[in-house]
Amino acid sequence: MIPPAVEPPDGPLPYFHALWKLLDNPIEAWPRAVYEEPFYQRGDERQTFLYACDPAMLKDILLDKVEAFPKDWMFDRVTKPALGEGLLTAQGEHWRWQRRAAAPGFRPDNVAAMTPAMVAAAEAALARWRERGEGARLDIATEMTAITFQVILDTMLSGGEGIDVEAAARKITDYLETLGKITPADLLQWPTWTRVALAPRGQRAMVFLKAMVDRMVERRRREPPRGDLVDLLMQAQDPESGRRMDDVLLRDNLLTFIAAGHETTALALTWSLYLVGRDPETAARVRAEVAEVAGEASLTDADVARLTFTRQVVQEAMRLYPSLPLMSRMCAEDTEAGGHPVAKGTFIFVPIYAIHRHRRLWRDPDAFDPDRFAPAESAGRPRFAYLPFGGGPRVCIGQAFALTEAVAILATLVRGASLEPDPGHRIRPVMRVSMRPQGGMPMTLRLR
Ligand code: HEM
Repeated sequence: MIPPAVEPPDGPLPYFHALWKLLDNPIEAWPRAVYEEPFYQRGDERQTFLYACDPAMLKDILLDKVEAFPKDWMFDRVTKPALGEGLLTAQGEHWRWQRRAAAPGFRPDNVAAMTPAMVAAAEAALARWRERGEGARLDIATEMTAITFQVILDTMLSGGEGIDVEAAARKITDYLETLGKITPADLLQWPTWTRVALAPRGQRAMVFLKAMVDRMVERRRREPPRGDLVDLLMQAQDPESGRRMDDVLLRDNLLTFIAAGHETTALALTWSLYLVGRDPETAARVRAEVAEVAGEASLTDADVARLTFTRQVVQEAMRLYPSLPLMSRMCAEDTEAGGHPVAKGTFIFVPIYAIHRHRRLWRDPDAFDPDRFAPAESAGRPRFAYLPFGGGPRVCIGQAFALTEAVAILATLVRGASLEPDPGHRIRPVMRVSMRPQGGMPMTLRLR
Protein backbone atom coordinates (compact mmCIF):
# COMPACT_ATOMS: atom_id res chain seq x y z
CA MET A 1 0.00 0.00 0.00
CA ILE A 2 1.42 3.38 -1.01
CA PRO A 3 -0.06 6.16 1.13
CA PRO A 4 0.06 9.86 0.14
CA ALA A 5 3.51 11.42 0.02
CA VAL A 6 4.96 14.83 -0.70
CA GLU A 7 5.87 15.09 -4.39
CA PRO A 8 9.35 16.69 -4.45
CA PRO A 9 10.27 19.17 -7.16
CA ASP A 10 12.99 18.00 -9.58
CA GLY A 11 15.30 20.87 -8.66
CA PRO A 12 15.41 23.99 -6.51
CA LEU A 13 12.28 26.14 -6.84
CA PRO A 14 12.50 29.68 -8.21
CA TYR A 15 13.07 32.26 -5.44
CA PHE A 16 9.51 33.52 -4.84
CA HIS A 17 7.99 30.06 -5.22
CA ALA A 18 10.48 28.74 -2.64
CA LEU A 19 9.68 31.64 -0.32
CA TRP A 20 5.97 30.92 -0.54
CA LYS A 21 6.56 27.22 0.13
CA LEU A 22 8.70 28.10 3.13
CA LEU A 23 5.72 29.88 4.65
CA ASP A 24 3.07 27.40 3.42
CA ASN A 25 4.63 23.93 3.63
CA PRO A 26 8.46 23.90 3.57
CA ILE A 27 8.72 20.17 2.85
CA GLU A 28 7.28 20.73 -0.60
CA ALA A 29 10.35 22.81 -1.45
CA TRP A 30 12.88 20.03 -0.72
CA PRO A 31 14.19 18.91 -4.09
CA ARG A 32 14.30 15.28 -5.20
CA ALA A 33 18.07 15.18 -4.60
CA VAL A 34 17.41 15.34 -0.85
CA TYR A 35 15.70 11.93 -1.16
CA GLU A 36 18.40 10.49 -3.40
CA GLU A 37 21.83 11.89 -2.51
CA PRO A 38 23.88 11.49 0.70
CA PHE A 39 23.67 15.26 1.15
CA TYR A 40 22.49 18.30 -0.74
CA GLN A 41 24.17 21.66 -0.37
CA ARG A 42 23.01 25.02 -1.61
CA GLY A 43 23.64 28.64 -0.88
CA ASP A 44 25.27 31.87 -1.86
CA GLU A 45 28.09 33.98 -0.45
CA ARG A 46 25.89 34.96 2.55
CA GLN A 47 24.49 31.61 3.65
CA THR A 48 25.08 27.92 2.92
CA PHE A 49 22.43 25.28 3.62
CA LEU A 50 23.32 21.63 4.01
CA TYR A 51 20.66 18.90 3.97
CA ALA A 52 22.33 15.94 5.68
CA CYS A 53 20.95 12.46 4.89
CA ASP A 54 23.98 10.16 5.03
CA PRO A 55 23.90 8.23 8.34
CA ALA A 56 27.67 8.71 8.83
CA MET A 57 27.29 12.47 8.38
CA LEU A 58 24.30 12.52 10.73
CA LYS A 59 26.25 10.59 13.33
CA ASP A 60 28.93 13.28 13.31
CA ILE A 61 26.39 16.10 13.52
CA LEU A 62 24.17 14.64 16.22
CA LEU A 63 26.62 12.54 18.23
CA ASP A 64 30.36 12.50 17.61
CA LYS A 65 30.80 16.25 16.98
CA VAL A 66 27.69 17.49 18.72
CA GLU A 67 29.54 20.49 20.26
CA ALA A 68 30.29 21.79 16.77
CA PHE A 69 26.61 21.66 15.76
CA PRO A 70 24.42 23.47 18.33
CA LYS A 71 20.76 24.32 17.81
CA ASP A 72 20.37 27.30 15.50
CA TRP A 73 18.95 30.81 15.77
CA MET A 74 15.83 30.01 13.70
CA PHE A 75 14.89 27.25 16.15
CA ASP A 76 15.41 29.73 19.00
CA ARG A 77 13.17 32.30 17.37
CA VAL A 78 10.32 29.82 16.93
CA THR A 79 10.51 28.07 20.31
CA LYS A 80 12.04 30.43 22.88
CA PRO A 81 9.19 32.96 23.14
CA ALA A 82 7.04 30.16 24.59
CA LEU A 83 9.55 27.74 26.09
CA GLY A 84 12.29 30.08 27.34
CA GLU A 85 15.43 28.27 28.50
CA GLY A 86 13.83 24.89 29.26
CA LEU A 87 15.14 21.45 28.34
CA LEU A 88 14.25 21.58 24.64
CA THR A 89 15.73 25.02 24.03
CA ALA A 90 18.69 25.45 26.42
CA GLN A 91 22.24 24.72 25.32
CA GLY A 92 25.55 23.75 26.96
CA GLU A 93 25.81 23.33 30.70
CA HIS A 94 22.39 24.90 31.31
CA TRP A 95 20.87 22.16 29.15
CA ARG A 96 22.97 19.36 30.67
CA TRP A 97 21.95 19.85 34.27
CA GLN A 98 18.25 20.11 33.32
CA ARG A 99 18.51 16.85 31.37
CA ARG A 100 20.07 15.14 34.40
CA ALA A 101 17.31 16.54 36.59
CA ALA A 102 14.44 15.33 34.40
CA ALA A 103 15.86 11.94 33.37
CA PRO A 104 14.61 9.91 36.39
CA GLY A 105 11.02 10.81 35.48
CA PHE A 106 11.43 8.89 32.21
CA ARG A 107 13.13 5.76 33.55
CA PRO A 108 11.60 2.50 32.21
CA ASP A 109 10.09 1.57 35.60
CA ASN A 110 8.40 4.98 35.79
CA VAL A 111 7.07 4.65 32.23
CA ALA A 112 5.73 1.17 33.03
CA ALA A 113 3.92 2.58 36.05
CA MET A 114 2.23 5.14 33.79
CA THR A 115 0.83 2.58 31.33
CA PRO A 116 -2.54 2.11 33.13
CA ALA A 117 -3.26 5.85 32.71
CA MET A 118 -2.54 5.56 28.98
CA VAL A 119 -4.85 2.56 28.58
CA ALA A 120 -7.55 4.27 30.65
CA ALA A 121 -7.46 7.37 28.43
CA ALA A 122 -7.95 5.19 25.32
CA GLU A 123 -10.78 3.24 26.94
CA ALA A 124 -12.49 6.49 27.94
CA ALA A 125 -12.27 7.65 24.33
CA LEU A 126 -13.82 4.39 23.13
CA ALA A 127 -16.67 4.87 25.60
CA ARG A 128 -17.26 8.41 24.26
CA TRP A 129 -17.22 7.06 20.70
CA ARG A 130 -19.78 4.38 21.57
CA GLU A 131 -22.11 7.16 22.69
CA ARG A 132 -21.63 8.88 19.34
CA GLY A 133 -22.75 5.61 17.72
CA GLU A 134 -22.02 3.49 14.66
CA GLY A 135 -21.17 5.52 11.55
CA ALA A 136 -20.16 8.67 13.49
CA ARG A 137 -17.68 10.92 11.70
CA LEU A 138 -14.69 11.69 13.89
CA ASP A 139 -11.74 13.99 13.37
CA ILE A 140 -9.13 11.54 14.55
CA ALA A 141 -6.43 14.24 14.81
CA THR A 142 -8.51 16.15 17.37
CA GLU A 143 -9.51 12.95 19.16
CA MET A 144 -5.88 11.85 19.53
CA THR A 145 -4.84 15.28 20.83
CA ALA A 146 -7.53 15.06 23.52
CA ILE A 147 -6.35 11.59 24.57
CA THR A 148 -2.63 12.37 24.69
CA PHE A 149 -3.21 15.67 26.49
CA GLN A 150 -5.12 13.82 29.18
CA VAL A 151 -2.29 11.29 29.43
CA ILE A 152 0.34 14.00 29.97
CA LEU A 153 -1.77 15.62 32.68
CA ASP A 154 -2.49 12.31 34.40
CA THR A 155 1.01 10.89 34.24
CA MET A 156 3.32 13.88 34.63
CA LEU A 157 1.21 16.47 36.41
CA SER A 158 -0.95 14.33 38.74
CA GLY A 159 -4.12 15.04 36.78
CA GLY A 160 -3.23 18.69 36.05
CA GLU A 161 -5.83 20.04 38.46
CA GLY A 162 -6.92 23.54 37.43
CA ILE A 163 -5.93 23.06 33.79
CA ASP A 164 -8.75 23.53 31.31
CA VAL A 165 -7.82 20.83 28.79
CA GLU A 166 -9.92 22.09 25.90
CA ALA A 167 -8.84 25.72 26.28
CA ALA A 168 -5.19 24.73 26.64
CA ALA A 169 -5.29 22.46 23.56
CA ARG A 170 -6.89 25.29 21.55
CA LYS A 171 -4.23 27.74 22.66
CA ILE A 172 -1.41 25.35 21.77
CA THR A 173 -2.90 25.04 18.27
CA ASP A 174 -3.16 28.85 18.09
CA TYR A 175 0.53 29.12 18.97
CA LEU A 176 1.65 26.47 16.50
CA GLU A 177 -0.36 28.00 13.66
CA THR A 178 1.07 31.47 14.20
CA LEU A 179 4.31 31.72 16.15
CA GLY A 180 5.16 28.01 15.86
CA LYS A 181 6.26 28.34 12.26
CA ILE A 182 8.63 30.47 10.25
CA THR A 183 7.13 33.90 9.63
CA PRO A 184 8.13 36.71 7.24
CA ALA A 185 9.74 38.49 10.23
CA ASP A 186 12.13 35.53 10.59
CA LEU A 187 13.11 35.55 6.94
CA LEU A 188 13.84 39.26 7.20
CA GLN A 189 15.69 38.64 10.47
CA TRP A 190 13.72 41.33 12.29
CA PRO A 191 14.15 41.27 16.10
CA THR A 192 12.31 38.38 17.77
CA TRP A 193 9.81 40.68 19.52
CA THR A 194 8.47 41.79 16.13
CA ARG A 195 7.38 38.25 15.17
CA VAL A 196 5.50 38.08 18.47
CA ALA A 197 3.97 41.54 18.07
CA LEU A 198 2.82 40.69 14.54
CA ALA A 199 0.95 37.58 15.68
CA PRO A 200 -1.62 38.70 18.28
CA ARG A 201 -3.42 35.32 18.29
CA GLY A 202 -0.17 33.49 19.03
CA GLN A 203 0.79 36.08 21.63
CA ARG A 204 -2.55 35.74 23.45
CA ALA A 205 -2.13 31.96 23.38
CA MET A 206 1.34 32.25 24.90
CA VAL A 207 0.20 34.57 27.69
CA PHE A 208 -2.71 32.23 28.46
CA LEU A 209 -0.53 29.11 28.62
CA LYS A 210 2.18 30.73 30.75
CA ALA A 211 -0.39 32.08 33.23
CA MET A 212 -2.05 28.67 33.41
CA VAL A 213 1.20 26.91 34.30
CA ASP A 214 2.29 29.73 36.67
CA ARG A 215 -0.89 29.18 38.69
CA MET A 216 -0.18 25.48 38.86
CA VAL A 217 3.44 26.04 39.99
CA GLU A 218 2.32 28.50 42.63
CA ARG A 219 -0.22 26.03 44.01
CA ARG A 220 2.18 23.11 43.95
CA ARG A 221 4.86 25.06 45.85
CA ARG A 222 2.37 25.35 48.73
CA GLU A 223 1.11 21.75 48.65
CA PRO A 224 2.73 18.52 49.90
CA PRO A 225 4.69 16.57 47.23
CA ARG A 226 2.89 13.98 45.09
CA GLY A 227 5.91 12.29 43.52
CA ASP A 228 5.17 13.36 39.94
CA LEU A 229 7.31 15.21 37.40
CA VAL A 230 6.43 18.59 38.91
CA ASP A 231 7.91 17.50 42.25
CA LEU A 232 10.90 15.94 40.58
CA LEU A 233 11.73 19.22 38.84
CA MET A 234 11.00 21.33 41.93
CA GLN A 235 13.37 19.23 44.01
CA ALA A 236 16.07 18.82 41.35
CA GLN A 237 19.43 20.30 42.22
CA ASP A 238 22.50 20.65 40.06
CA PRO A 239 25.18 18.62 41.88
CA GLU A 240 27.92 20.95 40.63
CA SER A 241 26.51 24.44 41.23
CA GLY A 242 23.79 23.53 43.73
CA ARG A 243 21.27 25.53 41.73
CA ARG A 244 17.58 24.69 41.57
CA MET A 245 14.87 25.65 39.13
CA ASP A 246 13.22 28.96 39.89
CA ASP A 247 9.54 29.47 39.05
CA VAL A 248 10.25 30.72 35.54
CA LEU A 249 12.47 27.76 34.62
CA LEU A 250 9.97 25.39 36.17
CA ARG A 251 7.20 26.90 34.07
CA ASP A 252 9.36 26.77 30.91
CA ASN A 253 9.96 23.06 31.49
CA LEU A 254 6.39 22.15 32.34
CA LEU A 255 5.20 23.95 29.22
CA THR A 256 7.92 22.10 27.28
CA PHE A 257 6.66 18.73 28.51
CA ILE A 258 3.05 19.65 27.83
CA ALA A 259 3.83 20.95 24.33
CA ALA A 260 6.50 18.44 23.27
CA GLY A 261 4.81 15.56 25.01
CA HIS A 262 1.33 15.33 23.59
CA GLU A 263 0.97 16.71 20.06
CA THR A 264 3.84 14.60 18.73
CA THR A 265 2.36 11.39 20.13
CA ALA A 266 -1.12 12.41 18.96
CA LEU A 267 0.21 12.73 15.42
CA ALA A 268 2.01 9.38 15.57
CA LEU A 269 -1.35 7.86 16.55
CA THR A 270 -3.32 9.80 13.95
CA TRP A 271 -1.08 8.58 11.13
CA SER A 272 -0.99 5.04 12.56
CA LEU A 273 -4.81 4.87 12.63
CA TYR A 274 -5.01 6.26 9.12
CA LEU A 275 -2.60 3.60 7.81
CA VAL A 276 -4.32 0.80 9.72
CA GLY A 277 -7.67 2.08 8.40
CA ARG A 278 -6.35 1.77 4.85
CA ASP A 279 -4.85 -1.66 5.28
CA PRO A 280 -7.30 -4.36 6.49
CA GLU A 281 -4.56 -6.97 6.68
CA THR A 282 -2.54 -4.90 9.14
CA ALA A 283 -5.70 -4.15 11.15
CA ALA A 284 -6.43 -7.89 11.38
CA ARG A 285 -2.86 -8.66 12.50
CA VAL A 286 -2.99 -5.99 15.24
CA ARG A 287 -6.34 -7.37 16.50
CA ALA A 288 -5.04 -10.94 16.48
CA GLU A 289 -1.96 -9.90 18.43
CA VAL A 290 -3.95 -7.99 21.05
CA ALA A 291 -6.37 -10.91 21.42
CA GLU A 292 -3.50 -13.34 21.88
CA VAL A 293 -1.66 -11.18 24.41
CA ALA A 294 -4.54 -9.84 26.49
CA GLY A 295 -7.84 -11.36 25.35
CA GLU A 296 -10.61 -8.93 26.23
CA ALA A 297 -8.87 -7.53 29.32
CA SER A 298 -7.44 -4.02 29.70
CA LEU A 299 -3.80 -4.00 28.65
CA THR A 300 -1.14 -4.03 31.35
CA ASP A 301 2.42 -2.69 30.95
CA ALA A 302 3.65 -6.29 30.51
CA ASP A 303 1.08 -6.81 27.72
CA VAL A 304 2.16 -3.63 25.93
CA ALA A 305 5.78 -4.80 25.97
CA ARG A 306 4.67 -7.99 24.16
CA LEU A 307 2.78 -6.21 21.33
CA THR A 308 5.68 -6.44 18.91
CA PHE A 309 3.72 -6.17 15.65
CA THR A 310 1.62 -3.24 16.93
CA ARG A 311 4.89 -1.52 17.85
CA GLN A 312 6.17 -2.13 14.31
CA VAL A 313 3.03 -0.43 12.95
CA VAL A 314 3.75 2.65 15.07
CA GLN A 315 7.42 2.64 14.00
CA GLU A 316 6.43 2.39 10.34
CA ALA A 317 3.85 5.20 10.71
CA MET A 318 6.56 7.38 12.27
CA ARG A 319 8.88 6.52 9.40
CA LEU A 320 6.39 7.58 6.74
CA TYR A 321 5.01 10.56 8.68
CA PRO A 322 7.51 11.57 11.38
CA SER A 323 5.78 13.87 13.87
CA LEU A 324 8.81 16.15 13.66
CA PRO A 325 9.84 16.05 9.98
CA LEU A 326 12.82 18.38 10.35
CA MET A 327 15.50 19.26 12.87
CA SER A 328 18.00 22.02 12.33
CA ARG A 329 21.44 22.94 13.62
CA MET A 330 24.11 25.54 12.98
CA CYS A 331 27.74 24.70 12.31
CA ALA A 332 29.75 26.60 14.94
CA GLU A 333 33.30 25.92 13.63
CA ASP A 334 35.04 24.80 10.43
CA THR A 335 34.90 21.01 10.61
CA GLU A 336 33.83 17.96 8.66
CA ALA A 337 30.90 15.57 8.87
CA GLY A 338 30.85 12.14 7.25
CA GLY A 339 34.13 13.04 5.54
CA HIS A 340 32.64 16.18 3.95
CA PRO A 341 33.99 19.62 4.92
CA VAL A 342 31.43 21.87 6.62
CA ALA A 343 32.17 25.57 7.03
CA LYS A 344 31.39 27.57 10.16
CA GLY A 345 27.99 29.28 9.78
CA THR A 346 26.48 26.56 7.57
CA PHE A 347 22.83 26.01 8.32
CA ILE A 348 22.22 22.28 8.79
CA PHE A 349 18.91 20.65 7.94
CA VAL A 350 18.25 17.14 9.23
CA PRO A 351 15.29 16.38 6.93
CA ILE A 352 13.85 13.44 8.88
CA TYR A 353 10.94 13.02 6.47
CA ALA A 354 13.28 12.63 3.49
CA ILE A 355 15.80 10.47 5.40
CA HIS A 356 12.95 8.09 6.22
CA ARG A 357 12.08 7.79 2.52
CA HIS A 358 15.62 7.96 1.22
CA ARG A 359 16.26 5.92 -1.92
CA ARG A 360 19.63 4.68 -0.68
CA LEU A 361 18.48 3.71 2.79
CA TRP A 362 15.13 1.94 2.40
CA ARG A 363 13.61 -0.65 0.08
CA ASP A 364 10.22 0.48 -1.37
CA PRO A 365 10.66 3.73 0.56
CA ASP A 366 7.11 5.02 0.03
CA ALA A 367 5.31 1.74 0.79
CA PHE A 368 3.61 1.04 4.12
CA ASP A 369 5.19 -2.18 5.40
CA PRO A 370 5.42 -2.68 9.17
CA ASP A 371 7.44 -5.87 8.63
CA ARG A 372 10.50 -3.81 7.76
CA PHE A 373 10.80 -3.20 11.52
CA ALA A 374 10.85 -6.92 12.32
CA PRO A 375 14.14 -7.73 14.11
CA ALA A 376 15.70 -9.57 11.15
CA GLU A 377 15.29 -6.64 8.77
CA SER A 378 16.10 -3.94 11.33
CA ALA A 379 19.34 -5.62 12.35
CA GLY A 380 21.60 -4.23 9.63
CA ARG A 381 20.09 -0.74 9.48
CA PRO A 382 22.37 2.17 10.41
CA ARG A 383 21.22 3.86 13.64
CA PHE A 384 21.04 7.27 11.99
CA ALA A 385 18.79 6.15 9.10
CA TYR A 386 15.76 6.28 11.39
CA LEU A 387 15.35 9.40 13.51
CA PRO A 388 11.75 9.97 14.61
CA PHE A 389 13.09 10.89 18.06
CA GLY A 390 16.35 12.50 16.90
CA GLY A 391 19.68 11.07 18.04
CA GLY A 392 22.77 11.65 20.16
CA PRO A 393 22.70 13.33 23.57
CA ARG A 394 19.70 15.48 22.60
CA VAL A 395 17.58 12.49 21.62
CA CYS A 396 13.97 12.84 22.76
CA ILE A 397 13.80 12.31 26.52
CA GLY A 398 10.22 11.08 26.13
CA GLN A 399 10.98 8.38 23.55
CA ALA A 400 10.14 5.33 25.69
CA PHE A 401 7.14 7.10 27.18
CA ALA A 402 5.79 8.03 23.72
CA LEU A 403 6.29 4.58 22.19
CA THR A 404 4.64 2.83 25.12
CA GLU A 405 1.79 5.31 24.98
CA ALA A 406 1.28 5.02 21.20
CA VAL A 407 1.32 1.19 21.29
CA ALA A 408 -1.03 0.97 24.29
CA ILE A 409 -3.52 3.42 22.78
CA LEU A 410 -3.37 2.06 19.23
CA ALA A 411 -3.93 -1.51 20.44
CA THR A 412 -6.86 -0.49 22.65
CA LEU A 413 -8.55 1.56 19.94
CA VAL A 414 -8.05 -0.93 17.10
CA ARG A 415 -9.46 -3.72 19.24
CA GLY A 416 -12.61 -1.68 20.02
CA ALA A 417 -13.28 0.06 16.72
CA SER A 418 -12.59 0.13 12.99
CA LEU A 419 -11.92 3.55 11.58
CA GLU A 420 -12.46 4.09 7.88
CA PRO A 421 -10.69 6.97 6.14
CA ASP A 422 -12.99 9.39 4.35
CA PRO A 423 -12.49 8.70 0.60
CA GLY A 424 -13.54 12.27 -0.24
CA HIS A 425 -10.85 13.90 1.92
CA ARG A 426 -7.48 14.58 0.32
CA ILE A 427 -4.63 13.77 2.68
CA ARG A 428 -1.92 16.41 2.47
CA PRO A 429 0.89 16.20 5.02
CA VAL A 430 1.87 19.74 6.02
CA MET A 431 4.70 20.86 8.24
CA ARG A 432 3.83 23.23 11.11
CA VAL A 433 6.92 22.38 13.16
CA SER A 434 5.15 19.03 13.43
CA MET A 435 3.75 17.09 10.47
CA ARG A 436 -0.04 17.25 10.41
CA PRO A 437 -2.71 16.17 7.98
CA GLN A 438 -4.08 19.40 6.54
CA GLY A 439 -7.73 19.87 7.50
CA GLY A 440 -7.56 17.08 10.11
CA MET A 441 -8.17 13.36 9.68
CA PRO A 442 -11.88 12.64 9.19
CA MET A 443 -12.69 8.96 9.70
CA THR A 444 -15.91 6.98 10.04
CA LEU A 445 -16.47 4.93 13.17
CA ARG A 446 -17.41 1.25 12.96
CA LEU A 447 -17.86 -0.24 16.41
CA ARG A 448 -16.61 -3.74 17.18
C1 HEM B 1 5.88 10.37 19.09
C2 HEM B 1 6.20 11.27 20.00
C3 HEM B 1 7.44 12.11 20.00
C4 HEM B 1 8.28 12.44 18.97
C5 HEM B 1 8.16 12.02 17.51
C6 HEM B 1 9.32 13.28 19.53
C7 HEM B 1 10.38 13.78 18.80
C8 HEM B 1 11.44 14.49 19.34
C9 HEM B 1 12.64 14.87 18.62
C10 HEM B 1 12.90 14.59 17.15
C11 HEM B 1 13.44 15.52 19.49
C12 HEM B 1 14.83 16.09 19.19
C13 HEM B 1 14.79 17.53 18.77
C14 HEM B 1 16.17 18.04 18.37
O1 HEM B 1 17.18 17.42 18.66
O2 HEM B 1 16.22 19.10 17.73
C15 HEM B 1 12.75 15.57 20.76
C16 HEM B 1 13.25 16.18 21.90
C17 HEM B 1 12.52 16.30 23.05
N1 HEM B 1 11.31 15.71 23.35
FE1 HEM B 1 10.25 14.49 22.15
N2 HEM B 1 9.09 13.46 20.85
C18 HEM B 1 7.96 12.76 21.20
C19 HEM B 1 7.40 12.64 22.45
C20 HEM B 1 7.83 13.31 23.56
C21 HEM B 1 7.25 13.20 24.89
C22 HEM B 1 6.11 12.26 25.26
C23 HEM B 1 7.93 14.08 25.70
C24 HEM B 1 7.75 14.38 27.15
C25 HEM B 1 6.76 14.01 27.90
C26 HEM B 1 8.93 14.73 24.87
C27 HEM B 1 9.79 15.69 25.31
C28 HEM B 1 10.93 16.09 24.61
C29 HEM B 1 11.94 16.99 25.16
C30 HEM B 1 11.90 17.65 26.52
C31 HEM B 1 12.94 17.11 24.19
C32 HEM B 1 14.24 17.88 24.31
C33 HEM B 1 15.29 16.94 24.85
C34 HEM B 1 16.67 17.56 24.99
O3 HEM B 1 17.03 18.41 24.17
O4 HEM B 1 17.37 17.16 25.92
N3 HEM B 1 8.85 14.23 23.60
N4 HEM B 1 11.54 14.91 20.65
